[in-house]
Amino acid sequence: MHIEKYQKAFINYLEDFTIDRHPNNLYEPINYILKLGGKRLRPILTLMTSDVFGVDYKIALDAALSIEVFHNFSLVHDDIMDDAPLRRGKTTVHEKWDLNTGILSGDAMLILAYQLFENYEPNTFKALAELFSKTALEVCEGQQYDIDFETRNDVSIEEYLKMIEYKTAVLVGAAMKMGAIIANASKEDQRGIYDFGRYLGIAFQIQDDYLDAFGNPETFGKQVGGDIIENKKTYLYLKAEESLDKDNKAMLHKWFQSQPENPQEKVNSVKQLFVETGAEQATKLAVEFYTNKAFSVLEILDLPDDKKQLLKQFGIGLMTRNT
Ligand code: IPE
Ligand code: IPE
Ligand code: MG
Ligand code: MG
Ligand code: MG
Repeated sequence: MHIEKYQKAFINYLEDFTIDRHPNNLYEPINYILKLGGKRLRPILTLMTSDVFGVDYKIALDAALSIEVFHNFSLVHDDIMDDAPLRRGKTTVHEKWDLNTGILSGDAMLILAYQLFENYEPNTFKALAELFSKTALEVCEGQQYDIDFETRNDVSIEEYLKMIEYKTAVLVGAAMKMGAIIANASKEDQRGIYDFGRYLGIAFQIQDDYLDAFGNPETFGKQVGGDIIENKKTYLYLKAEESLDKDNKAMLHKWFQSQPENPQEKVNSVKQLFVETGAEQATKLAVEFYTNKAFSVLEILDLPDDKKQLLKQFGIGLMTRNT
């Protein structure tokens, strides 16, 4: 399909980027995480957006690479913060090497991501760098909220939505807007495609919450139940909390204040509450709701119908993913 074309071009480009550099202990972990795979969703969106707005998508390869390098940087540091053992079915960087390696290799990736914009002429450089700085700062803010919420038991759905908009959705929006900037799309279309990506990103993170608890350990690639172990205030958790009676709510809160030796019992008990309260079902519906919100933004864009269909197909694919 169309998506394969972008994916292949991107992987080729990445191949040239991940050359051996010294010191090895800095660059080896960078190449490791970048070549572990992953869905390559954000760079594909950058390339696809520049294409639908009418320029050769190859011009957008540096921006697409920048977005993916930044995304992978955020994963290296996120896995430290979330104490995660597994990423894309493999050992996380800080576990395979050590904490210091995860921190410094991550820092270098953030700089490498920024540096890639230097390949654009001054006007485009400025627009991309501005968007990047704003977005990267918001991601940090979202990540801080995510951590702060672990030790709070009064988080609202509204606060949660803001948190995931920042930690995840703005980067998806920015990935698409960069494609539009490179294609010289109108300001209105740039805003519109950003909102489309932002809503898709919100749906994407809610789906990520869902898979973290209910995904298949064989295919998910991350530790299933990791969010429960880390007391993450996910959509599942907040929906369950909303509909529990006093006693069961106290039980949920108790689980989420404990760090048990054997976490499997906690994971199983909490998942059972997620199912019984209908939170599991509500979470699936929320993914659909925000995906449809993204689709309704497409209507205002100045794009031919077949291009809109392409974007919509991609959104449908995301909604039904299992990794
Ligand atoms: C993981 O992103 C982090 C989230 C924002 C949920 P992806 O699910 O896109 O990770 P990869 O790149 O495909 O592994
Ligand atoms: C991801 O949130 C947000 C960022 C990496 C910025 P998660 O912590 O849910 O991502 P995964 O589940 O570890 O991929
Ligand atoms: Mg994480
Ligand atoms: Mg996290
Ligand atoms: Mg997650």
